[in-house]
Amino acid sequence: MFPRKGASEEEVLEELERKTSRDLTFDSGRILGSMCTYPHPFAVRVVQTYIDRNLGDPGLHVGSQRIEGEAIEMLSSLLGLKKGYGHIVSGGTEANILAVRAFRNLADVEKPELILPESAHFSFIKASEMLRVKLVWAKLKEDHSVDVKDVEAKITDNTIGIVGIAGTTGLGVVDDIPALSDLALDYGLPLHVDAAFGGFVIPFAKELGYEIPDFDFRLKGVQSITIDPHKMGMVPIPAGGIIFREKKFLEAISVPAPYLAGGKVWQATITGTRPGASALAVWAMIKHLGFDGYKDVVRKAMELSRWFAAELKKIPGVYLIREPVLNIVSFGTENLEEVEEELKRRGWGISAHRGYIRIVMMPHVKREHLEEFLRDLREAIGHAIP
Ligand SMILES: Cc1ncc(COP(=O)(O)O)c(C=O)c1O
Repeated sequence: MFPRKGASEEEVLEELERKTSRDLTFDSGRILGSMCTYPHPFAVRVVQTYIDRNLGDPGLHVGSQRIEGEAIEMLSSLLGLKKGYGHIVSGGTEANILAVRAFRNLADVEKPELILPESAHFSFIKASEMLRVKLVWAKLKEDHSVDVKDVEAKITDNTIGIVGIAGTTGLGVVDDIPALSDLALDYGLPLHVDAAFGGFVIPFAKELGYEIPDFDFRLKGVQSITIDPHKMGMVPIPAGGIIFREKKFLEAISVPAPYLAGGKVWQATITGTRPGASALAVWAMIKHLGFDGYKDVVRKAMELSRWFAAELKKIPGVYLIREPVLNIVSFGTENLEEVEEELKRRGWGISAHRGYIRIVMMPHVKREHLEEFLRDLREAIGHAIP
């Protein structure tokens, strides 16, 4: 019910505190199965300071618009492109939808089809429904990366583009993007790389010496990349990123927005009014941490993943779905559902709906949390397998 009389700030805050008391918080260390994290305090400060900026009306906030452009430029250069075209958006979902929209609008075929790995994120299902693009799912190989031969076999005259994933949601697998890029070039098709998670991991992990396939604009067939600062970029939600190699992709999805207070502009994003503070926080975090700062974050996360995977292997009845590629470790057990239930009962924020439990080593996940989790896991297994 909409209250007739207002309450004091203290009363409202008290009620909020009470009502959110059952939420799991990132700083508790209990959330092990999320790709989000406690945002960096500096990014929070920037968001608070610039909370009123609206990039949906950039004529009013020209400084913020320019900063968004610089953030896109820095992300592009991280991804091997001198000048990219894109936006800071609401998340990986919006970024993926924008890429599919651009490919569809440029292809101009009657019955558009998009080829994507069976491991692709469900945001493409939303894109398919909204844009009336048929999804053609390509099989995975035993290592859970997409079978490039199957992708090729599925190309038809209706194909508008191909999707590869650099850090799958479930297992953190990086597809053979170099092979997909060659295929895309051979057939004159655009390749979109969903690096929503991997974008803020792979460039740093590669420099740390981890062997991970190339995945970015250095590969000539890659025309667009999703990269999410609100995942490993440690920027507050919402902050996703879409970057196109060429301006024509952005132009293909831009509509005129004539009535804005700041004057007529062209708008490509799904959201109209959108938070300038998010773009400013992306810019500020990149400036603040720099490549070396993010590399440190990734180093810790990757090392923790390797240690955790080794510890899991010591537990009878537990098996890894595959050796970790990025900072995601996924494992199965006998009686998985009972084990999951018991772990949840003990307050762990995990899920096993894909047939395995996925642990994402986000910056808020520390070794002591994992040690406690491993103790509970051993007991939960004992519980579930009498
Ligand atoms: C690979 C991948 N793409 C896209 C998304 C969607 O991102 P968001 O939830 O920010 O919309 C996710 C989310 O986990 C993801 O893992």
